[in-house]
Amino acid sequence: MGQLRKVWIGLTGRFAWRFRAAHLLRAFSRTEQGSALDMFAACEATPRRELRRKYFRHALDEWRHAGVFKARARAVGGRSATETGVDEAGVIVEHGIIGGRTLFERLGERDFLAFVYVAEADAVEQFEVYAARGLPDPDTQAALSVILKDELFHVTYSKHELERLTGAPPTTGTAAVVGAEARAAVRRIRWSRLKEGWLRLSLDIGHLMTSLWLTLLYALLIPPFRLLARLEPAGWQAPSADPRPLRLRLQSEA
Ligand SMILES: [Fe+2]
Ligand SMILES: [Fe+2]
Repeated sequence: MGQLRKVWIGLTGRFAWRFRAAHLLRAFSRTEQGSALDMFAACEATPRRELRRKYFRHALDEWRHAGVFKARARAVGGRSATETGVDEAGVIVEHGIIGGRTLFERLGERDFLAFVYVAEADAVEQFEVYAARGLPDPDTQAALSVILKDELFHVTYSKHELERLTGAPPTTGTAAVVGAEARAAVRRIRWSRLKEGWLRLSLDIGHLMTSLWLTLLYALLIPPFRLLARLEPAGWQAPSADPRPLRLRLQSEA
């Protein structure tokens, strides 16, 4: 699975960095912002004092990463600050807070730590593949190598805290999680992320098919109909030159 995932990241990454670099960087920026919000919420909700400080530092890291990715997206894609702002408008809705409950509230501390560990380990793997294959431009590559150090810290501390919370002897470094309960939590989170990934892919395919069918409908069905259509006193009318909305026009005619 690990090797297969790396090949997949390499293949899709080659395409994304070549043709959609700005789009990819904006997506990273939104994800980092979402993670920062999750961590700020966890910082507020956790009953553990020692973890509150780590969550807060983690949130600040992610917020900084979001800014770095946003700046790189602007540099690569040449979009204005307003356009980038519009992109970010859906972050709170898309990430973290669902149905009024934060990720921490939905998962509880143990599974939240497992989620952070899995998400961060996946991000590290993804960034390492990009860096090893030299896919981003040199400036983004330099920014990524700085971000990667923070992400490695996120992996190691979340793993350490997950093991501690579940009563396993806490380990350091990026080796696999130890302890039956911690491993089960990691497995559960991996499985739910797989399911979410599948649902997201299905949604994207749905959007693609909708655009395709609507384009075909407009291109093939509407033009012949337009050729046959004629203006009629009681039916089809030429568009009005009056710039006011229809509702106001009808009111003034009444
Ligand atoms: Fe990050
Ligand atoms: Fe992170």
